[in-house]
Amino acid sequence: MDTTNLFRLDGRVALVTGGSRGIGKMIAAGFIAQGAKVYISSRKAVACEETAAELGPNCIALPQDVSSVAGCTALAEQFAQHESKLDILVNNAGAAWGVPFEEFSEIGWDKVMDLNVKSPFFLTQKLHGALKAAASHQRPAKVINITSIDGLRLNPWETYSYHASKSALIYLTKRMAARLIKDSINVTSIAPGAFASDMNRAARDHGDEVAKSIPSRRIGDAEDMAGTAIFLASRAGDYVVGDTIVCDGGLVNASLGTSIDA
Ligand SMILES: NC(=O)c1ccc[n+]([C@@H]2O[C@H](COP(=O)([O-])OP(=O)(O)OC[C@H]3O[C@@H](n4cnc5c(N)ncnc54)[C@H](OP(=O)(O)O)[C@@H]3O)[C@@H](O)[C@H]2O)c1
Repeated sequence: MDTTNLFRLDGRVALVTGGSRGIGKMIAAGFIAQGAKVYISSRKAVACEETAAELGPNCIALPQDVSSVAGCTALAEQFAQHESKLDILVNNAGAAWGVPFEEFSEIGWDKVMDLNVKSPFFLTQKLHGALKAAASHQRPAKVINITSIDGLRLNPWETYSYHASKSALIYLTKRMAARLIKDSINVTSIAPGAFASDMNRAARDHGDEVAKSIPSRRIGDAEDMAGTAIFLASRAGDYVVGDTIVCDGGLVNASLGTSIDA
């Protein structure tokens, strides 16, 4: 067996939403290093273009708000002006909302559910034709949803809609996988733990403190995230369908619970 190219992405075209910073940028940089051409998207055009310039000639900015169906349609149309095929879609753009139970508002639900649950569904729907055009039985196209360990276990913060949205997206990943595998499109998800970003300011600004509660004794870094995404996107991950890979240093699957018998 020749494993030299197992994780390579030469000739593949990817689209990463929320690719201007944080986890999306880590994934975009990893894909480019493996030979892919990567389109990144985010609302703020300048930041998106700056990141594309930083990541080099194989990174192209397509600024767009994807929190509405109209936004998803617009991004798919923008993408179609550049490419007829899409090998890898990463639904990464996401939002969190944390407010005490008594004060939690409807906007805190709508904003989070629209971007974290509806948008991955509708953007994949709008790009279905381009994904099908790239997909074959021998080389499936990939849709990778960025979920969260908050969809699998509770955190101490009052992020009601965020917990619900990420749990929903983990299940939506399975449902979409069951449909899209018929078109040779593999849908999977990555559930990250603590990664430094604007969203996770605790990990970004107090990483050493956050690390103390993680079995691996560190927060996640760009290589951890890129490595998991490259695995799923490349030939190496072709037989993974509908699953969520937890990338969290052991918080979900290697943490000891507190005994109530003690
Ligand atoms: N960091 C963590 O520890 C962690 C853990 C678990 C899961 N996650 C998940 O990982 C994903 C990325 O999070 P992150 O930590 O990297 O967050 P981040 O640093 O806040 O980055 C979010 C990205 O999404 C873009 N974005 C936000 N709203 C958008 C919209 N309506 N339309 C298009 N793009 C939008 C942002 O750019 P603009 O503001 O310019 O739009 C930015 O590029 C999210 O789904 C998050 O839930 C993160």
